[in-house]
Amino acid sequence: MRILAIESSCDETAAAVVENGRAVLSNVIASQVEEHKLYGGVVPEIASRRHAEAISGVVQKALDDAGTTLDGIDAVAVTYAPGLIGALLVGVNYAKSLAYAKGLPLIPVHHLRGHIAANYLSHPELEPPFLCLVVSGGHTHLVRVNDYTDFTVLGRTRDDAAGEALDKAARAMGLPYPGGLHLDRLAQTGDNAAFRFPVPRVDGAPLDFSFSGLKTNVINQLHNAVQKGETLKKEDLGASFLAAVVKNLCDHTKQAALECGCKTIVLAGGVSANSVLRSEMQRLCDKQRWRLFLPDLPLCGDNAAMIGAQAYYEYNAGKRADLSLNAFATMPIEA
Ligand code: KG4
Ligand code: ZN
Repeated sequence: MRILAIESSCDETAAAVVENGRAVLSNVIASQVEEHKLYGGVVPEIASRRHAEAISGVVQKALDDAGTTLDGIDAVAVTYAPGLIGALLVGVNYAKSLAYAKGLPLIPVHHLRGHIAANYLSHPELEPPFLCLVVSGGHTHLVRVNDYTDFTVLGRTRDDAAGEALDKAARAMGLPYPGGLHLDRLAQTGDNAAFRFPVPRVDGAPLDFSFSGLKTNVINQLHNAVQKGETLKKEDLGASFLAAVVKNLCDHTKQAALECGCKTIVLAGGVSANSVLRSEMQRLCDKQRWRLFLPDLPLCGDNAAMIGAQAYYEYNAGKRADLSLNAFATMPIEA
């Protein structure tokens, strides 16, 4: 079964053709990052307009790269939640039009389910159940993936997402957008023990996360240094902050895995590209004799191939949308 998938939840206009949930026939991404960089973050109004301009060309290229036309497609899938509402609506309406024009089934896909499914593309042998740490710009979830379309959230962030905290701290340090990526590079030359950070705890919910305190701590250290006229080594501050965030992510993942008896750990979302997170999680899993699956780097960030992968399993589970399909800025992954 060949699915044409569309993703436009944030600042990448993406389309892909995926066969039977596992084989990527094409994967096209038009990034708007250079434009949003001017403003230090994603400007929703600009994102929607760029999606509207790019989507036809991106979809056509995905079909061309896959060596097919719409006549060779069996279903259309689209990210319908969560994300920037104006951005999502562009993809949703485009997908609806294509499905209607060609009489094809329309499959709505949850963006975070898509991030998890990126791992099915990178690892043909991976099957649920497993424990997944989803770390993106907008979400931080510890999820037990019971089956392809059955999820239990074990922990979530109470404030900033991990990526959001990295982006905001990086911005305060004068790094360009997307901050997480630039912080990863900067931290490689820093001393990760140079600065100390408190360990965040959420009372009564040990698997939940809280990153806003760590982020504010970085910003305060920067301000204090400026006020005292001191120069602060940003490589060291960045490396120490990143180490604190990663330690927290790894500690919670370990606790969740022990509690649910999961011996297969999976990472997903834009922050899963982080070099420190990847190596520390590998260290943890080696020590515990757990298997770790990491998405290939090009599949960590937003793309449509992951949406096409998840769509196959949603379709098999009977999920369909009609032409009244709407987009939603928020939606639980279990819904
Ligand atoms: O999953 P994603 O592409 O978009 C959302 O669904 O939010 O995640 C974007 C996030 C941003 O916060 C970005 O800074 C972060 O992923 N990111 C990284 C790295 N590459 C992207 N964070 C840390 N290290 C990286 N190498
Ligand atoms: Zn994403």
